[in-house]
Amino acid sequence: MRVSGLLRLLVFTFVLVTTLFFVRSYISFNMQTVRLPRWMGLVTKENQVAKTKCGLSKPCPANFFAFKISSGAANVVGPSMCFENHIIMSPVKNNVGRGLNIALVNGTTGLVLRHNSFDMYSGDPKSVLQFLKEVPMGTLVLVASYDDPGTKMNDDIRKLLSDLGSSYAKELGFRDSWVFLGARELKSKSPFEEYLKNNPDTNKYEGWPELLELEGCVPKKVF
Ligand SMILES: *[C@@H]1O[C@H](CO)[C@@H](O)[C@H](O)[C@H]1NC(C)=O
Repeated sequence: MRVSGLLRLLVFTFVLVTTLFFVRSYISFNMQTVRLPRWMGLVTKENQVAKTKCGLSKPCPANFFAFKISSGAANVVGPSMCFENHIIMSPVKNNVGRGLNIALVNGTTGLVLRHNSFDMYSGDPKSVLQFLKEVPMGTLVLVASYDDPGTKMNDDIRKLLSDLGSSYAKELGFRDSWVFLGARELKSKSPFEEYLKNNPDTNKYEGWPELLELEGCVPKKVF
């Protein structure tokens, strides 16, 4: 009887320990399954943090704004402008047009002041002239061409664009590709500019040069 009682106690202890073991591993398994999505969420969050503003190839240092400007592709795909991860103008936003697309951004805060597209083929060049004359001090000016930025271009507009730091505004002609970031009161030429002349021998598309992409980090203006 005593032996059988001891045996029963042993079996009871064994069952108890095994049960506890299984319950424990079940709980930790459950905790793992609970943790897994959180862990995956963390990874996604880390990836988002690692992704640069505007999809730049390298992140910008502190006190710099990230930007990316793409010109239009032939007369088919409209241009786009991104500033500090904010899409200012794009075909998806449906706020671009053929000609010159121009956005004004406060050089200190990085906030968009206004943007507009100007038809340079059949529009009135007075409207773009007026827009450029009213660029406030300390403002960044982003420009992207689409289809034809040149037909209605005139010397007054070229002068204003050159004053913003453009090197190619004086050459801009029919169906050229052009992307530019300048600023009001820029003392020198802007390093942010790309230009491709419409040339039947080198054009990527029939009738138009290749689209241009410009990305970079522009220093915040501290007053
Ligand atoms: C840009 O932002 C600064 C700081 O808020 C402000 O003082 C300045 O007036 C703004 N400039 C324009 C043109 O909005």
